[in-house]
Amino acid sequence: MMPSATTFPTAHRVDGFTYAIRNIVAEAKKVEATGTPVTYLNIGDPIPFGFVTPPALVEAVAKAMRDGHNGYTASVGIVEAREAVAHEFSSRGLPTTADRVVLTSGTSEGIELAIGAMVNEGDEVLVPTPTYPLYTAVLAKVGARAVYYRTDPSRGWQPDLDHLRSVITARTRVLVSIDPNNPTGAIYPDETRRALIDIAERHHIVILADEVYGDLGYDGAVAPMGGLAPDAPIISFSSLSKAYVAPGWRAGWLAVGRSPRMDGVLAAIKKLADGRLCSPGPMQYAITAALTGDRSHQIGLRAALRERAEVTTEKLNAIPGMSCVAPRAAFYAMPKVDLPPGVTDQDYVLALLRATGILCVYGSGFGTAPQDGYFRVVFLAPPSDLVGIYERMGAFTRSFLSR
Ligand SMILES: Cc1ncc(COP(=O)(O)O)c(C=O)c1O
Repeated sequence: MMPSATTFPTAHRVDGFTYAIRNIVAEAKKVEATGTPVTYLNIGDPIPFGFVTPPALVEAVAKAMRDGHNGYTASVGIVEAREAVAHEFSSRGLPTTADRVVLTSGTSEGIELAIGAMVNEGDEVLVPTPTYPLYTAVLAKVGARAVYYRTDPSRGWQPDLDHLRSVITARTRVLVSIDPNNPTGAIYPDETRRALIDIAERHHIVILADEVYGDLGYDGAVAPMGGLAPDAPIISFSSLSKAYVAPGWRAGWLAVGRSPRMDGVLAAIKKLADGRLCSPGPMQYAITAALTGDRSHQIGLRAALRERAEVTTEKLNAIPGMSCVAPRAAFYAMPKVDLPPGVTDQDYVLALLRATGILCVYGSGFGTAPQDGYFRVVFLAPPSDLVGIYERMGAFTRSFLSR
């Protein structure tokens, strides 16, 4: 029999799944094909910009492989690394134990496991705008609804707590807090963090505390949110991706708050974790090495990021029609360009790409309104390169806005 020529159908959930940070690369490839080199400022990966994974961590992975640790691990991960994670949280003010820690394939998998463990189809999850787009993507897969709460650029991108309270319903299950934040670079003061915890307690909501940039505050590491209330319903997430410069290793962890109210959630996460066998085994040994060893590389990393953030804020704010809140952590900024009526952030970003080869991500990919003109810049390039990039951006923006 001849095979049918009809294409095979795909699932509806794929239609709702978007990930602007990578989706936009298809546009960049088209521009490259015309001979224009592209400057990729879309993905938050320090490696292509010359930042180096600490050699001791590379050696820890290589040694684990040489020592024969190449099989599956327990689905929750090796006990030494889970103990190192528990000790790390405890020493930063959030007392926890290894049995409440699960090693995951990056923060990303931890978030997916937690959402999978707690959120049913049709349930609502509070997600900040702008947000890191993983959350909306995972919620689309689960069939749950992302409900946006605003963060406010005029107050350093702090959460708008009144707005947050106003969008809670009987179906709200989870509150996502990204602190330090991607894409805005904000760090929340304790007062704000306490207010988020109060709201969660009052409405019986679990907080997902995405703390993957916790070590990358320019003034030093930021304590975990759960330290303010160790019995609050909080799940904390982080990984080696950013502060240990190893994003490709997929070496992450989560810690479920110690309250017995969270025991069922912890069991559900472990049950789901069984189904994916384990996170990459040799890399788990690097988690132990990272959290128990020398982390002096972070001093230079934070200084390098601060310098780049300062160049970014200064140069972008000097462009007529553009404004940018100064980031305080990580390697992202979320500038705004004052667009004429009818023009979207995507129009601006694509025109910038086609005219200059500079690839940023439009703010609507992070949940801001298209007409608001936000876009995200990854500022990992060396400061001298950034100066040239922002000059080209400025020249383009002047001509774009004067059309
Ligand atoms: C806020 C935030 N959460 C999670 C992730 C994913 O990190 P990981 O590599 O640990 O999965 C990122 C990566 O950019 C991020 O910015």
